[in-house]
Amino acid sequence: MKSAKKSAMQNAMKYPKANTPIILCSVLILISTLATHTPVYAGDPPTIQFKEAGKLVKKLTLEELGKLVSAEKIKVNELHEKSQMEYQAFRFKSVLDAIYGKRWSKTEEILFTCSDGYQPSVPQAKIEAYPSFLAFGRPDHDFTLTYEKKLIPLGPFYLIWDNIHTEELKWEDMGDWPYQVTTVDLIRFQDHFPNLAPPEKSSAAAKRGFLTYRKNCLTCHTINGEGGNKAPELNYPINILEYYSEKWLKKWISDPTSIRYRTGMPAFNPEAQNRAQKIEDLVAYLRAMGKNKKKPPQ
Ligand code: HEC
Repeated sequence: MKSAKKSAMQNAMKYPKANTPIILCSVLILISTLATHTPVYAGDPPTIQFKEAGKLVKKLTLEELGKLVSAEKIKVNELHEKSQMEYQAFRFKSVLDAIYGKRWSKTEEILFTCSDGYQPSVPQAKIEAYPSFLAFGRPDHDFTLTYEKKLIPLGPFYLIWDNIHTEELKWEDMGDWPYQVTTVDLIRFQDHFPNLAPPEKSSAAAKRGFLTYRKNCLTCHTINGEGGNKAPELNYPINILEYYSEKWLKKWISDPTSIRYRTGMPAFNPEAQNRAQKIEDLVAYLRAMGKNKKKPPQ
């Protein structure tokens, strides 16, 4: 955390607010960064929507966003490619300040929607505590990366974290690194996902499992129709434990490729602490949801 603060400070020092020559200088850097490195798009320019509880607040192109927030270059440990990579990006907190003012600090979660259906919800406290960036390009490179031998387009926007200077982020997997981000929404978890919580009288394991599910599975899967759109529904009409045995479900979560040679599902974070317990908890949560089926809206 110490080093994260230091790097935030160093960056703040690079962009002091009340110093005209430096402002001019950063505007020039910004213009040149945008002008020389913005990829040329054949179709529509990269655009992002900002919402609050599902209601549109602002829709901006990359160019318009670049007029509100200065761009910088940031190096991260790229978890998909397992190497250090540099991105052109906006400090995400500055983006939130510019769009929502101080309102965003009162939100519970920030929900990212991606064009491939991925949908992570990141607690506001995490955005507050650790430096994150909305990347829009790579210097002298297409805005893509290679993951599992596939070329992934990252645009219009990609949320990245300074995991080089932040100890706590070093052990995280890429769950909170959504690419192809098209929408940012300030939400209250309970309002946005009213049918995901386990029943009140569920076991402690099921309640812990819910927290793990929110962070690691919700991004791709739906339960009762709520969640990401990248993977199958796990509860309605048939709960997963009605056709998977507990033993095979645990094996699947732990290491999907040990069951299907090719699968779009990643293994549950190999670096997670108390991993076996967390997988037990996930199963308890999924089982509890079997008694809480709700028909998804059409
Ligand atoms: C990056 C997206 C992604 C994440 C994150 C993810 N899954 Fe999956 N999952 C998939 C995809 C895609 C499939 C479809 C099967 C395949 O591709 O082989 C799948 C399949 C499944 C299945 C089998 C469904 C069936 O009916 O055959 C289960 C169970 C499952 N996932 C549970 C989980 C759990 C529990 C988590 C959290 C620990 C999780 N998944 C996280 C993408 C994901």
